[in-house]
Amino acid sequence: METLTAQENSTAVDFLPLNGTDHVEFYVGNAKQSAYYYQKAWGYKLVAYAGPETGVRDRASYVLEQSKVRLVLTTSLDPASDISQHHMLHGDGVKFLSIWVDDATKSFEETVKRGAVPFMEPTRFEDEHGYVVISAIKTYGETVHKFVERSNYNGVFLPGYKAVTNAMAVEPVGLKHIDHCVGNVELGRMDEWVKFYEDVMGFQLLLTFDDKDISTEYSALMSKVVSNGNGYIKFPINEPAEGKKKSQIEEYIDFYKGAGVQHIAIEVHNILDTVGELRNRGVEFLYVPENYYDDVLDRVGDIEESIEDLKALNILVDRDESGYLLQIFTKPVEDRPTVFYEIIQRKGAKSFGKGNFKALFESIEREQEIRGNL
Ligand code: FE2
Repeated sequence: METLTAQENSTAVDFLPLNGTDHVEFYVGNAKQSAYYYQKAWGYKLVAYAGPETGVRDRASYVLEQSKVRLVLTTSLDPASDISQHHMLHGDGVKFLSIWVDDATKSFEETVKRGAVPFMEPTRFEDEHGYVVISAIKTYGETVHKFVERSNYNGVFLPGYKAVTNAMAVEPVGLKHIDHCVGNVELGRMDEWVKFYEDVMGFQLLLTFDDKDISTEYSALMSKVVSNGNGYIKFPINEPAEGKKKSQIEEYIDFYKGAGVQHIAIEVHNILDTVGELRNRGVEFLYVPENYYDDVLDRVGDIEESIEDLKALNILVDRDESGYLLQIFTKPVEDRPTVFYEIIQRKGAKSFGKGNFKALFESIEREQEIRGNL
């Protein structure tokens, strides 16, 4: 059953104060073309670039922003590099979930002291705009958390990146900020990673979903949500559960070749406007059966939006004790059935849409079936 855990230690001293998500960096096969997709379809603005033209010899990186959401797309130029190896194994995927901190050195020391595996010692990078300190620790799979300290830096992104002044014109779609980032881990390892976030990063367990909440005929999973002290960072962790056929989490792990980031949820101002516009621009969303809407108001009560509008765009609704939320999920945004996005508009609700899991997973199963992976 779903269990909501109170944030008990909110008055205790937080050994790892976090200001929010700094950026999400993907390793992709062709960053130039991926950047075009995020600009044209999603309305991100290209703000910075690093590559051969700026003196970086082994990679090309594009920095895209919309409101507080910042993505970095990186492609290796060297087939022998770690980036190329990562891409060969995992396909396009998230390498860094980077967190904005006031003190990257202390963040590294406090987490490593508690058992984190170091990825990069605190390192100072500087250019004419000042300096940053970045450190990094490993998390599930080959995913890494960078700690980015940028209070002494006023450049466009980080040292090594040049501002892009001739970016193409884009139309934003109303993205506000990252709401949560979800990880898929191997069968039986969810509790281990929850414990990592609790012990090493001082996060608290916020919610638990077991397989009775999240199982359809075939696709079962279990999930626990951990959050940092101020609630700015929320990381749900999924693991597959036994079902009649293959769990969607297992499908992900088979194709990603291990644990990794499953989806990034982005909060928007007006989900009807955002999703209407994204659909016009060719972004693909999961299909929800029409009968989902037959009894949705019995389940969620009064909402401000018209059901017909939600139905036309396949937007889902759920309610908890604090309010309601509207959400929708894209199909995977690369050829492997791995990373996808959630668009979410919160109207008070603090939860994650448990009431929609059944409809959603049946929809995912249809896609798995088409791919021959059920
Ligand atoms: Fe989500």
